[in-house]
Amino acid sequence: MRTPIIAANWKLHKNRAEAKEFLNEFREKVKYISDVEIVLGPTFTTLDTVIEGTEGTEINVAAQNVYYEQEGAFTGEIAPNMLSELGCDYVIVGHSERRHIFGETDGDINKKVHAVFEDEMTPILCIGETEDERNEGKTQSVLKRQLESGLDGLDPSQVAEMIVAYEPVWAIGTGESASPEDAQEGCKFSRDLVSEVYDEETGEQVRLQYGGSIKPHNAEELMSLPDIDGGLVGGASLDPKSFSEIISITEELY
Ligand code: PGA
Repeated sequence: MRTPIIAANWKLHKNRAEAKEFLNEFREKVKYISDVEIVLGPTFTTLDTVIEGTEGTEINVAAQNVYYEQEGAFTGEIAPNMLSELGCDYVIVGHSERRHIFGETDGDINKKVHAVFEDEMTPILCIGETEDERNEGKTQSVLKRQLESGLDGLDPSQVAEMIVAYEPVWAIGTGESASPEDAQEGCKFSRDLVSEVYDEETGEQVRLQYGGSIKPHNAEELMSLPDIDGGLVGGASLDPKSFSEIISITEELY
């Protein structure tokens, strides 16, 4: 059975003081959660605060991005070994904001996925179509391209261990999540593709998150879908109350 995983993507929010305030409340609220894996994804400068503040708990920590080189003349970048040294467990790779605002290509994203594994962290690979691509009937071809290139060169055991987050771009930050049918369809398509490219077992093992306007009021219908093993939560993860509610709702489903 796949362990559900709910991850927070704080994006460009919360400095260290705000993260401490969040943790004081959040730790209490999730202290009895045992069947859902919890991940917090703060900014780079707040990672150490969150890593220290979650010591002695089961909460894991994700960086929101990484560069694929270990060192060199790459002004402004952060290397995988720097994140693993801090104690990061996961790295979010290929988020739609990285792809669309910062111009990351499928090739860059694949190099990042490999780099994360090389430093013994786990990638959360984000894929998802834009509204125009959906309207033009290209959803499946976009997911296929992003997933096949994102996973290129990995072996089945790595794919089985990682997380793929299906985040339709039109549902991110809009308050309008995908319908349960569309969310399930995107995740099922991704799982079937992994089974086809690798094998059935790998397809059964890879954990798939849905992301895009998950809130406490829609968490139950989205998290209960057969091919959805958790969520990547932006806006609603900034508030300890709403984020812990999403986690508790998910735990009750398992
Ligand atoms: P949202 O963001 O929950 O605010 O839609 C999700 C994400 O970008 O990962």
